[in-house]
Amino acid sequence: MDEPVTSVPDLAAQATHLSPVLGRYFERSWSHGIGHRLYDTAGRGYLDFANGIAVTALGHAHPRVTAAIHAQADRLIGPTGAIGYAEPVVTLARMLAQTLPDPIDTVMFLNSGSEAIDGALKLARRVTGRPGIVAFRGGFHGRTFGATSVTTSNINYRTGYEPLLPGVYFSPFPGAYRTFGGDEDRATTECLRILESLFETVIAPSSVAAILIEPVQGEGGYNPAPAAFLQGLRALCDEHGILLIADEVQTGYGRTGRMWGFEHAGIVPDIVAVAKAIANGLPLSAIATRRELQERWGRSAHGSTYGGNPVACAAGIAVLETIAAEDLIASAARRGAELTAGLGRLKAEDDRIGDVRGPGLMIGVELVRDRATGEPDGNLATALVARAAELGLLVLSCGLSHQVVRWIPPIDVTSAEISEGIEIFGEALRTT
Ligand SMILES: Cc1ncc(COP(=O)(O)O)c(C=O)c1O
Repeated sequence: MDEPVTSVPDLAAQATHLSPVLGRYFERSWSHGIGHRLYDTAGRGYLDFANGIAVTALGHAHPRVTAAIHAQADRLIGPTGAIGYAEPVVTLARMLAQTLPDPIDTVMFLNSGSEAIDGALKLARRVTGRPGIVAFRGGFHGRTFGATSVTTSNINYRTGYEPLLPGVYFSPFPGAYRTFGGDEDRATTECLRILESLFETVIAPSSVAAILIEPVQGEGGYNPAPAAFLQGLRALCDEHGILLIADEVQTGYGRTGRMWGFEHAGIVPDIVAVAKAIANGLPLSAIATRRELQERWGRSAHGSTYGGNPVACAAGIAVLETIAAEDLIASAARRGAELTAGLGRLKAEDDRIGDVRGPGLMIGVELVRDRATGEPDGNLATALVARAAELGLLVLSCGLSHQVVRWIPPIDVTSAEISEGIEIFGEALRTT
């Protein structure tokens, strides 16, 4: 492929009309992406383990996805949701439903993760007739008002927007490393106990419409929820007629070495929110549930002009076909094990790495001042992200003080690329 040329090498200097509100990890200027490399406007390639924050899970300019986009763009671009049916939309709904466990069989398409969360919350309230929503401390669910109301990963996401949605209650997330000395059993028992006490003292479970959780907290610091905790939530929801919403926006699509993050706990949520990797970069999201729930939600109870755009859905079909054809879920699990092992070796050599955690290819490396105190070191993580980029590797940070370097390689990453990433990160550690 001919590499596109750009006449504007330093786009940052030209961006005076772009809003300063959007936070950026880098001030670099990007030209194009090929496979697992992103190229800057000077023509330098970077191993892209950031993927627009877990979006381009099949890398850049994936031939199958790009061909599907081109073909559909020639045929029909305009959204058809409100006026009827278009083939890629119907087909993707069927294919997506097939990736989900019974009885989940019905999909509503929207455009972004935040919209999927807002829709899920509206569905839960309307269908149950209950006002309450329980979410977890440190969770990130998006930027719209509904999603902001259930987000607590950083106060900056909420400040100045109050009053947010009423009826939202927060319970602690069982992040084992930071709060429970790595003891998952204690994290599970304690956090379930606090949730039950919320039901005894603050809001009756009969008034709760939904419990919303990320199977692995993303923005909040790549904290996996122990399987037993998710099972406990499922049991509580069953006992009290509460709908369990899994926010799979970041954990879905093979990211954790399973198609869905909740599969690690062997549970089935009532509502699954999907976005990011679903169309490998085009805006698309979905809410998936059993049919009966969306029938009870009711015709025109929710809607979207652009949701289920045919071009995005055509890309989505190509993504699922590629995952199946290349057995990418199993591959992500294998590459994830290699990445965890490599990062574990770096941890053994460097006292500033407090923890390496996470399933599959969703791995957090938590930086600390030293292991004895476990005090988070956001400055170090930020410096490492910058240094790794200088050395040609794109990784991002997350966590309250940005103390966690998050690894989100494409799910079709190769062993050689995993080794290259570890090598560069090791060099970044040695020189930071
Ligand atoms: C777990 C989770 N939920 C929801 C969202 C919001 O998605 P979007 O930015 O597409 O609105 C994100 C985005 O990072 C996310 O990580």
